[in-house]
Amino acid sequence: MDRIRIRGGSALNGTIPVSGAKNAALPLMIASLLTDDTLTLENVPHLADVEQLIRILGNHGVDYSVNGRRENQGKSYARTIHFNARSIVDTTAPYELVSKMRASFWVIGPLLARMGEARVSLPGGCAIGTRPVDLFIEGLRALGTEIDIEGGYVVARAKKGLKGAHYKFPKTSVGATHVLMMAASLADGETVLKNAAREPEVVNLAECLNAMGAKISGAGSPTIVIEGVPTLSGARHRVIPDRIETGTYALAVAMAGGDVLLEGARTDLLESALASLGRTGAEVTQTNAGIRVRRNGSGIAPVDVTTEPFPGFPTDLQAQFMALMTRAKGQSRITETIFENRFMHVQELARLGARISLDGQTAVVEGVDSLKGAPVMATDLRASVSLVIAGLAAEGETLINRVYHLDRGFERLEEKLSACGAEIERISA
Ligand code: EPZ
Repeated sequence: MDRIRIRGGSALNGTIPVSGAKNAALPLMIASLLTDDTLTLENVPHLADVEQLIRILGNHGVDYSVNGRRENQGKSYARTIHFNARSIVDTTAPYELVSKMRASFWVIGPLLARMGEARVSLPGGCAIGTRPVDLFIEGLRALGTEIDIEGGYVVARAKKGLKGAHYKFPKTSVGATHVLMMAASLADGETVLKNAAREPEVVNLAECLNAMGAKISGAGSPTIVIEGVPTLSGARHRVIPDRIETGTYALAVAMAGGDVLLEGARTDLLESALASLGRTGAEVTQTNAGIRVRRNGSGIAPVDVTTEPFPGFPTDLQAQFMALMTRAKGQSRITETIFENRFMHVQELARLGARISLDGQTAVVEGVDSLKGAPVMATDLRASVSLVIAGLAAEGETLINRVYHLDRGFERLEEKLSACGAEIERISA
């Protein structure tokens, strides 16, 4: 198994190209199931999760072809992928595939809307807490779906097609918003979704569905209105830049010091996180080319954050922000409100010398003068990258195990950071 070795202490200076967003690419790829025409997606990142979803879609009959630059043809690695679901050969998403990636459960929406049936394995537990699917089931039932749970599978049927309906999410969910928006696009009549997720990835999906012929308005606000259409066509659509990757590298610069341009990044996708970062003493500016982040020798000010659905501070940057706070001049409080068990990085950061105590859903971080390198590992993607950030500022060597978590969501992490002066390398097993 690969590991990442970091020798801390180098400032970061240079340019980091921001990749297409994993969490936008995944639902966009799933939307290809809604049409028998070709959906072309540009700026698709090269990540383990994307490759896994390609395999899952293949199981349903989706063909794909890739064009883009090869690895040695310049610094842009974004790929354009053509997806074609002309014939859907299987409406079952088996446990072996769904259990590996929760987002693959989302195929339930398009399969049901297009084929009138879907049999999708329950995703099961995951490292950041129990993540139920009650909102998907309730929402799809509102659209006229009959749903049974049989042998660990959600069996959904709408033989006469889906019917538009008014549905208010009792709790905001990104995935359930994606699924209901896709399903309602092919329903008969109007659907109104209230308390919908407002994340930029929801807006990116709505724009793609509209390019395919859907009639969706209000995405990005809490109320989304979808006028159903009988069929959708193909389209060409671009994946937005990854706001979590952007925030992660911005926090890395704040931690290590230096001056980095995050090429292609957009401040409007992460205003809350950048405002918190600014309060720590880093300088953040939007330029025509992207976001520039600078921090000079002055210390890191402690800042409290609470995770919230968009436009609040994202849960997917909580671990990375905590890593920065381990070196702040004073105490900060970091509260997680989205997932109940998203603090696995706490004990690993402690191995590097961080002082963090947990008080329910709040981590109380006492900044320390220095961190010391150590072998560490983490059990999810964002927790793993928080250890990279800590390692950049730790004295000596930090060895990060279980790199496959990083490969799920960060494209060429070690290459991007070492191009800016970090001493970081991958050690292949
Ligand atoms: C998406 O997950 C992201 N994944 C997550 O990123 C992100 O952390 C999360 O949104 C919140 O922003 C992708 O986009 C692929 P939710 P999702 O449904 O859609 C509860 C990463 O690191 N809930 O918005 O699965 C749920 O348990 C990943 O890239 C229900 O109770 O998240 C959670 O507490 C990790 N019932 C809350 O809602 C349901 O039926 C929000 O989850 C569905 C969700």
